[in-house]
Amino acid sequence: MHAPALAVAPPPADPSVAALLAARPHLSMHAHDGLMLEGVALNAIADALGTPVWAYGAGTLRRRLAALQGALAGLAGVHYAVKANDHLAVLRVLAAGGAGADVVSGGELARALRAGIAPSRIVFSGVGKTTEEIRAALAAGIAQINVESAAELDMISALAAELGRTVLVALRVNPDVDAGTHAKITTGLAENKFGIPYDEAAALYARAAALPFLRPVGLALHIGSQIVTLAPYRAAFARAATLVRDLRAAGLVVSRLDCGGGLGIGYRDEPGASPDAFAGALRAAFGAMDVELMVEPGRWLVGPAGVLLASVLLTKADGRIAVLDAAMTELVRPAMYEAWHAVVPLSPVRATEPVAPVDLVGPVCETADTFARARMLPPLRAGDRVALLDAGAYGAVMSSTYNARPLAPIALIDGARWATVRPRQAIEELWRQESVPDFLD
Ligand code: LLP
Repeated sequence: MHAPALAVAPPPADPSVAALLAARPHLSMHAHDGLMLEGVALNAIADALGTPVWAYGAGTLRRRLAALQGALAGLAGVHYAVKANDHLAVLRVLAAGGAGADVVSGGELARALRAGIAPSRIVFSGVGKTTEEIRAALAAGIAQINVESAAELDMISALAAELGRTVLVALRVNPDVDAGTHAKITTGLAENKFGIPYDEAAALYARAAALPFLRPVGLALHIGSQIVTLAPYRAAFARAATLVRDLRAAGLVVSRLDCGGGLGIGYRDEPGASPDAFAGALRAAFGAMDVELMVEPGRWLVGPAGVLLASVLLTKADGRIAVLDAAMTELVRPAMYEAWHAVVPLSPVRATEPVAPVDLVGPVCETADTFARARMLPPLRAGDRVALLDAGAYGAVMSSTYNARPLAPIALIDGARWATVRPRQAIEELWRQESVPDFLD
């Protein structure tokens, strides 16, 4: 007897180049110049700077920020999560559009200040801040420190007392809510390292309020990243609203709520998070609470605005594997989170040829250095260029120089103009700060 055949659903077809571009208004295929980001042919950038190279669209950043601000108008202020893309030019564009910043290290604080973001628009999050970082934040006079543990509260209290300054803090609460995203980017479960356990938050808030140099102003939440449904937000917001009521009932002042980031984008053909729907969830949970709201989005603002351009070095296995000159050292997301990034040929001719499955890999000596498996793409030949889309968030910031690969250059496009905003790192830079001690001679 034969076992009945298992009904295995075929994998979903990869979206066509036309479908990918239709969902991304900042990208277009020019009949002669090929793939364009805003008004600039990406081939022109690759010709000038070589590949791999990053390109970001300033107009796209502005439009996305304005769209989010529009949805949140009169409801919540936007504090851009600098970690997603900390380039000074990106920070400058977003700051000019009215965004504040959410920073998680002394380095990000320094970058935000350097880009001209007012200290009064900066909040400092993070699960492990050093004494030096807290001192720097206090010296700069930033708006608020989001505290993630009792130990950190004591540390800030001691430093504030030493400086004789009152510090505004929010307690980051871990609501124990499943964000329904990749396990490596979920932050709001009790088992995650982030935040103060929900049941301990009220007592710690009261303790903070009793300390002479601390002023607890509210709560902070961040449940994870690349969240495309509202249910986890609604659950977390409901938990926060209950806590606010409990704190107020105990006579404590709660005037601010930092609702975190996490808004997802459509990498493949899934719809991204909707700012209007997100605003609706905020309004439903907190609209009647007389509380100042802020949000900390990173990916939603910058992800779609950036691409990574790469060239095909060679193909092997009868064209079933294409080796690119970009690697996990530039874009680590596929290796680290099994992330799916769209790949589009820069050539207008290639983009219309019949598709066949190809593995896109980088040259680094790791099997994980694979951008895509069995991706349905037009035939790729040595010298062809491709763009990896939606690489503006957690792309260049997560780069490494593994295999002694210098950091790739960055171009910033603004409409029809573009400029190099970081050159390719020179090979000598890789060892510029290294030395070989005399005793080895
Ligand atoms: N606020 C806090 C406290 C955060 O930890 C994060 C991100 C954000 C805001 C911004 O989240 P977003 O809006 O960008 O989702 N490297 C991963 C993502 C890590 C996110 C870490 N925290 C990735 O490439 O998917």
